[in-house]
Amino acid sequence: MKGIILAGGAGSRMYPISQLYSKQLTLIYDKPLIYYPLSILMLGGIQDILIISNEETIPFYKKLFRDGKHLGLNIEYTLQSAPNGIAESFILGDKFIGNDSVTLILGDNIFYGTLDFFQRALERKKGATVFGYRVTDPERYGIVEFDENGKAISIEEKPQKPKSDFAVPGLYVYDNNVVEISKNLKPSPRGELEITDVNMEYLKRGELNVEKISRGVAWLDTGTPESLLQASNFFGAIEDRQGLKVACLEEIALHMEFINLTEFETVTNNMPKCAYKEYLNKILQDRIK
Ligand code: DAU
Repeated sequence: MKGIILAGGAGSRMYPISQLYSKQLTLIYDKPLIYYPLSILMLGGIQDILIISNEETIPFYKKLFRDGKHLGLNIEYTLQSAPNGIAESFILGDKFIGNDSVTLILGDNIFYGTLDFFQRALERKKGATVFGYRVTDPERYGIVEFDENGKAISIEEKPQKPKSDFAVPGLYVYDNNVVEISKNLKPSPRGELEITDVNMEYLKRGELNVEKISRGVAWLDTGTPESLLQASNFFGAIEDRQGLKVACLEEIALHMEFINLTEFETVTNNMPKCAYKEYLNKILQDRIK
């Protein structure tokens, strides 16, 4: 399974910072936003990761993650010259995906809670799996409609009259057919290759699984400055209460056995003196005990 993080976009809602880089670099409490979606891929056991972004932002990601080796990952980077749509990820990522299946996560999507819904999707060998999450503002998202047996019957992108309150979050698990499906898409009226059109094609083929995500899981919005502040407060409260970090990539790499204790120690030794390093040193000490 390959992983793609789409982390570019015009980011105009985040002006003035969007003049410098895209919003996935904004701090959510104590780490950049992109750490959160990357942590989800890692917790799914995915080690081959492609980050797609714009010319301004790719150099920053490269500085943050390099080739990913220190996290036991293989991270590659690809340029998206303009925000031509989410489904363009699979065309740009064609070579990287090869004959594999692929998980796409949007670089501004944050999930927190038990990830069993994602694990189940990763175990499926054929077709596509997307998720349904209840929201109060369905007109802002891709919306999935279910029949009385809970089977998905339609998906619409940002409908004016939503047929349900179930939004499709920016986490998608596909078999290899997604590449061919994306290459055959036509741009929508707003000029984008729509991820919803990819999902509709799988639905048409009878190969779309839709899993509802339970209310115990948080899927956080990061579309506006207010929602970014809310997300920061949310993770600040959790980390402060538990003394455990969310989306701490080095900790996850060790937990998933992508790196061993010696490699973990080398990574932490290379960090400047800071609270993040102290946290990792504590994990190291606990392991050595
Ligand atoms: O967040 C989930 C929603 O994401 C889904 O429910 C929708 O079906 C899906 O279309 C998408 O809707 P958004 O309105 O959130 O998409 P947006 O254009 O804001 O793009 C999402 C992120 O992906 C954003 O951080 C920018 C990045 N992006 C987007 C496009 C279209 C790119 O890097 N390149 C692109 O071409």
